[in-house]
Amino acid sequence: MKRKLISALLCGAMAATMLAGCGSSSSDSSSTADSGSTTTSESGTTADSGSAGGATGTGKIGISMPTQSLERWNRDGSYLDEQFQAAGYETIVTYSDNDSSRQVNDIQNMLAEDVDLLIVAAIDGEALNTAMNEAADAGVSVIAYDRLILNDAVSYYVSFDNYSVGTLQGQYIVDALDLENAGDKTYNIELTAGDPADNNAPYFFNGAMDVLQPYIDAGTLVVPSGQTDFDTVATAQWSTDTALERAQNILGSYYADGTQLDAWLCSNDSTALGVSQALTSDYAGSNTVIVTGQDGDEANLKNIVDGIQSMTVYKNVSDEAVATLALSEAILNGETIDASMADNLGVECSYDDTSYETSDGNPCPSFLLVPTVITADNLQDLVDTGLYTMGDDGYLSAVQ
Ligand code: BGC
Repeated sequence: MKRKLISALLCGAMAATMLAGCGSSSSDSSSTADSGSTTTSESGTTADSGSAGGATGTGKIGISMPTQSLERWNRDGSYLDEQFQAAGYETIVTYSDNDSSRQVNDIQNMLAEDVDLLIVAAIDGEALNTAMNEAADAGVSVIAYDRLILNDAVSYYVSFDNYSVGTLQGQYIVDALDLENAGDKTYNIELTAGDPADNNAPYFFNGAMDVLQPYIDAGTLVVPSGQTDFDTVATAQWSTDTALERAQNILGSYYADGTQLDAWLCSNDSTALGVSQALTSDYAGSNTVIVTGQDGDEANLKNIVDGIQSMTVYKNVSDEAVATLALSEAILNGETIDASMADNLGVECSYDDTSYETSDGNPCPSFLLVPTVITADNLQDLVDTGLYTMGDDGYLSAVQ
């Protein structure tokens, strides 16, 4: 409740600031679809207009997002852009079409434009060394946004508690199948994880498997395909089509004889979409298969309403942008950044300086927000964030 209220107040303040800015500022933006798409925005805020609207920031912020082809990053890009502009900063936003070398280029271009701070959601956590080293040489701080970058030039990490995203998915399956009380009954499950290049993907998978593995070991959960290790179940680039194709192969090979499938762990919504499509077209059974997800993508929320997907782990990326802005301001203003900051970020979040490392033995101080479970029973919670609306048909649309 408290978090929602704070978010609503921040959104309101942000909207007010933006409106105040509209009359007096010029804005220059150009954008093309994902092919190295760049949006450059100038707040045009003058020193004293800042005091009226609360927009006191000065400086240029480079915001590098992975792709526009996966729904959430469009939201992240626009929330970050809006919130930094509302605070008075100039922004450059790029989407790199899931192409790591393009992301290196995009970041190098931002450095050439003299950005004061970089916010980067990496396509591949190990492929940004050139750009990261150049940022370090230029004295530009880097915040790894949502996905950790494995380079010591990264100063801080803002994300959700990725491991607990996985435990929420695993626990959902345990509860939905009532595995605690299964007795001799056995249930069949299949597993789909995320992109191996994304540092988050193993966290999600390990979190879920730490909950599910005891039931697999006890024989209560059975994986008929035998595919249980991360590398085998991973999905390059979190691709819906790749997840769909693998699910069709598994259904054809292990379930065509009428074997019942009870659950399919999917690490996120883009992969859940592919798995659900395969279940709709290729699964012979008549039971409802439990399917997990993550993000609250529109198509998946529709599937939840329609009973095709069971749950999604929701991460409020507007709050993630709020936390990133607050941390950025502290960095730019040379303030002390420590655990106490987590209490003042305006969103529910914890400080963790042990779980994530940018290189062996080099922990990255992290601010981790709290994910929540969304099912057909609490879709209204999403509407209450102000970030979704519900149509007369009961389907949700994201506000942006
Ligand atoms: C994000 C997830 C997202 C996935 C694919 C991960 O790094 O944390 O929210 O579903 O990337 O976009």
